[in-house]
Amino acid sequence: MIKKCLFPVAGYGTRFLPATKSMPKEMLPVVNKPLVQYGVEEAIEAGMATCAMVTGRGKRAIADHFDINYELEHQIQGTGKEVYLESIRNVLDKGTFTMVRQREMRGLGHAILTGESLIGNEPFGVVLSDDLCINPGGDGVLAQMVALYRQFRCSIVAIQEVPADEVHKYGVIAGEPMKEGLYRVESMVEKPNKEEAPSNLAIIGRYILTPDIFDILRETDAGANGEIQLTDALMKQAQSGCVMAYKFKGRRFDCGSVPGFVEATNYVFENIYGA
Ligand code: G1P
Repeated sequence: MIKKCLFPVAGYGTRFLPATKSMPKEMLPVVNKPLVQYGVEEAIEAGMATCAMVTGRGKRAIADHFDINYELEHQIQGTGKEVYLESIRNVLDKGTFTMVRQREMRGLGHAILTGESLIGNEPFGVVLSDDLCINPGGDGVLAQMVALYRQFRCSIVAIQEVPADEVHKYGVIAGEPMKEGLYRVESMVEKPNKEEAPSNLAIIGRYILTPDIFDILRETDAGANGEIQLTDALMKQAQSGCVMAYKFKGRRFDCGSVPGFVEATNYVFENIYGA
């Protein structure tokens, strides 16, 4: 039903310098797999086999990762080392990868708009690979959201409760509870301070967006941090139609921060790697 997923991967990754000076932050490995591959696997699992990447300068390693490396394939063919290539071969068999470059960094909303030519006029998923989401033994977050999309046919954002002193890092929603863990969005603020935040329900980097978001983004002025914010465009969608917010099942690690990244690494090593 939803076939495409957009990956905004043009950001600088300043919090991980010097590691990210010449390497994309999305290629940082959690144990032995780059962050972006976790996101791609989650999208493919949800049926979104066309992965549209909004890249930027210095991000070629991402395009190379989602392509065949003939020399490597040739070298290890028929040896015991082939097993190490299994997960990425699997991704390449199932997925298609398209890229467009974002020439200027003008915020998440601008990155999404840059992806319009790859998405066209259909609903699509969005993954921010900094947010590593894992739901062991159950559906991934995007697959959970696709099931909801079937029912509501409108944009959906993933949310999680966060401590009040962390709301300033997120887009924060308030809404009318529909059923356990599901809200119809009534307000939405990007990076509010504690006093302005409408709740402690923070948006996590998983979205399903209907394609009218592109026209709205084109008309959206710069907001928080002087950037074109997806949150502001979604708020307009909520006012004129409907946006749902969904408290997903599973764990989320903020891999854009060093402590979150280390926590994810320990978790994956202990619970998933080699299992
Ligand atoms: C972006 C979004 C924000 C969301 C967050 C989730 O912010 O703008 O609404 O809560 O991702 O990770 P960023 O982390 O890119 O500043």
